[in-house]
Amino acid sequence: MPLHKILHINENTTAYFWHITEDVTSLFRAVSLRDTSLFRLEGMKSEEHQKGFLAVRMLLQHLGYNDYDLTYDEAGKPHLMPEAGSWKLEETPSPNTQHPSSIIQHISISHSHEFSCICISDELMGIDLEKLKEKTLKIAPRFMGVKHLENLTTSEQIEKATVIWGVKESIFKIKNEKGISFPEHIFEDEFDLKDGKCTAKLHFNNQIENFYIQFYNVEAYIFVCAFPNK
Ligand SMILES: CC(C)(COP(=O)(O)OP(=O)(O)OC[C@H]1O[C@@H](n2cnc3c(N)ncnc32)[C@H](O)[C@@H]1OP(=O)(O)O)[C@@H](O)C(=O)NCCC(=O)NCCS
Repeated sequence: MPLHKILHINENTTAYFWHITEDVTSLFRAVSLRDTSLFRLEGMKSEEHQKGFLAVRMLLQHLGYNDYDLTYDEAGKPHLMPEAGSWKLEETPSPNTQHPSSIIQHISISHSHEFSCICISDELMGIDLEKLKEKTLKIAPRFMGVKHLENLTTSEQIEKATVIWGVKESIFKIKNEKGISFPEHIFEDEFDLKDGKCTAKLHFNNQIENFYIQFYNVEAYIFVCAFPNK
């Protein structure tokens, strides 16, 4: 299956979803991989993980990027090379146009079951895609304030716990710092599921940082995108 969905989060930020219906071999044949990626792919234990990884490369290629445009830091956070996708925004750029490669493009990646997702933005952000499942509600006391689940139906509780999990994963992906604990350092403020947005705070290293979050239902998943407050 090709690109499944494009979500315009704000004027600088877009998320792209790939519905993985292909087998590993078809995905593998459709992408070019750098040696380090091949090595990672070969080391993955599950086929689901391999498909998720390859589907991210399908998304990159769909957008005019490729695996060679992507690097990872020591912690595993992905970055687009500064010159990635140069001029892809315009077929024939005019001499007065700002070169797109002078704008830093941030990327965040998530995969869950049969979907892979990437988000590209001029702003720093982190994303998470998470399948709705009862297990997230069962483990909720381990990572969130369960008072946020009061007065909700069970399906709403699953949804809200999944959003909060995604909020914490997304903030973790922005910060990319060792030692951040979901229950001890990231605190979600009160919010209504129907609003599709919320705020959260990170208390870490004697600092408090605020985050703004937008969340969406995508098929049987919750998609979360977090931004540091400016
Ligand atoms: C790294 C982590 C955020 C990945 O999240 P996940 O839900 O397992 O997987 P997702 O599919 O959503 O995201 C995986 C992608 O995150 C990105 N990623 C990995 N490490 C990252 C980091 N340190 N910073 C930012 N992004 C990172 C990668 O792009 C990765 O995909 P890829 O390697 O195929 O490119 C997660 O495993 C983690 O370590 N979380 C923090 C630990 C924690 O506190 N856990 C819960 C305690 S209650």
